[in-house]
Amino acid sequence: MSKKIKDLIKKKNKSKIVCLTAYSKKIASILDNHCDIVLVGDSLGSVLYSYKSTKEVTLETMINHSKSVRLGVKKSIMIVDMPYNTYRNPREALKNVKLVMKKTKCDGVKLEGGKKIIPVIKSLTKNKIPVMGHVGILPQTDKKFSFKGKKKKEINKILNDTKLLETAGAFSIVLECVETKLSKQITKNINIPTIGIGSSSNCDGQVLVIDDLIGMSDSKFKFVKKYVDTSKIINSAVKKYKNEVKNKLFPKAKHSFANLKY
Ligand code: KIV
Repeated sequence: MSKKIKDLIKKKNKSKIVCLTAYSKKIASILDNHCDIVLVGDSLGSVLYSYKSTKEVTLETMINHSKSVRLGVKKSIMIVDMPYNTYRNPREALKNVKLVMKKTKCDGVKLEGGKKIIPVIKSLTKNKIPVMGHVGILPQTDKKFSFKGKKKKEINKILNDTKLLETAGAFSIVLECVETKLSKQITKNINIPTIGIGSSSNCDGQVLVIDDLIGMSDSKFKFVKKYVDTSKIINSAVKKYKNEVKNKLFPKAKHSFANLKY
C-alpha cells in the first residue's frame, strides 16, 4: 500500500476527508490544492453526456477523462471509477483495472457493490491494486434510487457488505444515500474511512460531484450544496462579450495577434 493511501487511512477519527469528482485537467488542478481524493466518477455519464444511466459509460471514456485529470492532480489521491460490466469476474476485473492503471497512472479504482464482488476485490488487492468500495445506492445496477438503511434486512446487508469489503482489503468505502444512524454504525464498525454522499456527517469524509458544487448541473438532490453559481457567472461574461463584439468594442488593437509580443 502506498504512503498516500496509508496516510489517508490514518485520518480516520482524526481529520475529515475531502473528496470531489473531476473529469478534466483544469478543474482537477484546482481541486488538487484542497482535496485528499480526486475521483474520476462515472457520474460523468450524466453530468457531461446526459446519459440516462451510468451503464452507458465505457472504459474508453473513463480512460480519456482520467488522462486529462491526471495532468492536473499532483498531490491528491486520484481514484477512477470502473464502469458497468467491466468487473463481472476476477479475471475481467484484473485485465480492465490493469489497463486503467497503466493508461491513466491513477492511484486506485472504485467499484460498486458488496458481497457479490468480494472475489473481484480480493483478486485486485492481492495484486496490490488500491480499491475503494461503494455501497448504498448503486447507480450502475439499482433499478430504483431510494435511501438505504431503513429496513432491518437492508441494514444487516449493508453492515455485512462493508465488513466484507474491509476484510477483502478495500482502503475506504463510499456510502451513497445511506441512512444517518446506519452511516454512524458502519463508520464505527470498520477501521477504514467511510466517505459519504447524502449520508450525513457521521462519515469520515464527504464527496460531491464538482458540477453540482459549482452550479454547473441541474441536480435537484437535497444533499447537494451549490457553493457558487458558475452558470450565472459564465452567462454574464458571455453576454458582455456578445455586446462588445456587436458594438465593435472587442477586439482592441492589443488583442490582435499581429500586435502580441511573445
Ligand atoms: O460517480 C461518481 O461521481 C460517484 C460519486 C458520487 C461517489 O460515484
